[in-house]
Amino acid sequence: MRKTRPAMRRRTARRGAPTRSMLAAMTALAREARERARAPYSRFKVGAALKTRTGEIVTGCNIENASYGLTMCAERVAVFKAVSEGLSDFDVVTVVADAKRLAPPCGPCRQILWEFCGDLLVHMVDMKGRSRTMRLRELLPMPFDDGNL
Ligand code: THU
Repeated sequence: MRKTRPAMRRRTARRGAPTRSMLAAMTALAREARERARAPYSRFKVGAALKTRTGEIVTGCNIENASYGLTMCAERVAVFKAVSEGLSDFDVVTVVADAKRLAPPCGPCRQILWEFCGDLLVHMVDMKGRSRTMRLRELLPMPFDDGNL
């Protein structure tokens, strides 16, 4: 039987860094999404904006549940929304949170991002506008993926 391939196969770094204005636009969208976060338990609101190389941007916010383990992070909401809309070939995700330290995607989100986005740029921003951009490969140096199966 032929193995089915995941939706996103590209694993290599993309050419063409996003412009400052593109990152600013993504940050604004992620901040807006953050306002829609449902975080009554942690009170830690997160917003994300995920971009395709052709410029479509899909947002997400964290959505908590009284059964805490069912909580969904902002990044995964954005990825699942985008994938369910048929989008692929993502190159940047912006994550906005209000914290003393810039908030990187959690471990499970790194795995999900790797699966569907490969080595995209992760742009982390706080509410004061401080930011840092890293490749997902740096945050997830030895990923498990279809190449291991
Ligand atoms: N959270 C995210 O949305 N993204 C992350 O990468 C880290 C954590 C959310 C989950 C939970 O609602 C809150 O932040 C506190 O952990």
